[in-house]
Amino acid sequence: MNVRITGTGSALPEKVLTNADIERLVDTSDEWITTRTGIKERRVAAVGEYTSTLAAEAARRAMSMAGTHPEEIDYIIIGTVTPDFPFPSTACLVQDLIGATNATSFDLSAACSGFLYAVSIAEKFLRTGAAQKILVIGAEVLSRIVDWQDRNTCVLFGDGAGAVVLEALDGAHSLLSTHTFSNGTFWNLLYQPGCGSRNTAADSRTIDERLYYLRMEGNEVFKHAVRGMEEAAMKALDANGLTPSDISLMIPHQANRRIIDATAKRLGLGSERIFVNLHWYGNTSSASIPIALDEANRQGILRSEDTLLLVSFGGGLTYASALLKW
Ligand code: ACO
Repeated sequence: MNVRITGTGSALPEKVLTNADIERLVDTSDEWITTRTGIKERRVAAVGEYTSTLAAEAARRAMSMAGTHPEEIDYIIIGTVTPDFPFPSTACLVQDLIGATNATSFDLSAACSGFLYAVSIAEKFLRTGAAQKILVIGAEVLSRIVDWQDRNTCVLFGDGAGAVVLEALDGAHSLLSTHTFSNGTFWNLLYQPGCGSRNTAADSRTIDERLYYLRMEGNEVFKHAVRGMEEAAMKALDANGLTPSDISLMIPHQANRRIIDATAKRLGLGSERIFVNLHWYGNTSSASIPIALDEANRQGILRSEDTLLLVSFGGGLTYASALLKW
């Protein structure tokens, strides 16, 4: 059985935080942020907006495009590192919000690779006949775990959600393959030290040492990101007997323009074959690829028979790729 994306959707908070706004929070400049990252602005969730509400809105839009009713959904899988609660899963909250009464729902933690990891798991359920329709979502409200006093990290991240409906359908226009990788040796290059079982939320150290906020070794992450994305991309191409020249469009994780450009250079892809929207949204972690895919889809950039390469890296460290015939 083939696996096809039949609908895409995304949801972004209305509130925009520009680089000029961040200049008023920390010692930084629009010029530094733009040249080092490519980011100009990002969206920030308002009071009453959560990972679940953004995810539900993205899901409704994807289901509407797919012509799918919520009761037809067999699984809801959400990649997120900013769930509404440690438990229950945000996927269960989304199930309730959208009325997907027949779904099995769970979250998946793979940082910025969360969406592609979830696609990879959904692919297995669909190919084996265990499911017919799956909602895969990447959703984050990173603004609530970003230290707005730390210029090394606060300029990079944003909030949002993206979703796809994946269906088991015969014929062309399908998912060709998915590949996932992780390297736990470098878990501490990018992580949230507090609010787990190690440094609990109730521990005074968590508050005093600001352990609630994400921490990152930016330079180190950068190097691993470029190598990892290249490896994930080449694994996808090799598995399908393709080369970079066969890629119509690469939609990479939107973390940093320089990481994307360095990866594209290693693959020999010109800028016309790379989709980039990080200047508007910053790094939305697991949401970045499905938001970009939905934008490219709704802008009419994706043509039938295009070969699309989706590729990510994230905390863990994790890497992943998916190759599709659109
Ligand atoms: N404004 C002004 N100056 C800054 C800022 C800022 N916002 N942030 C850092 N600087 C300063 C540093 O203090 C340093 O100053 P110094 O030389 O006096 O010490 C200088 O700028 C250079 O800092 P570097 O860290 O070397 O800057 P670099 O060019 O590496 O860029 C960046 C930093 C943008 C973080 C880059 O390393 C990067 O993008 N790394 C990858 C990060 C990433 O993608 N993370 C997400 C991973 S995905 C996930 O799972 C969430």
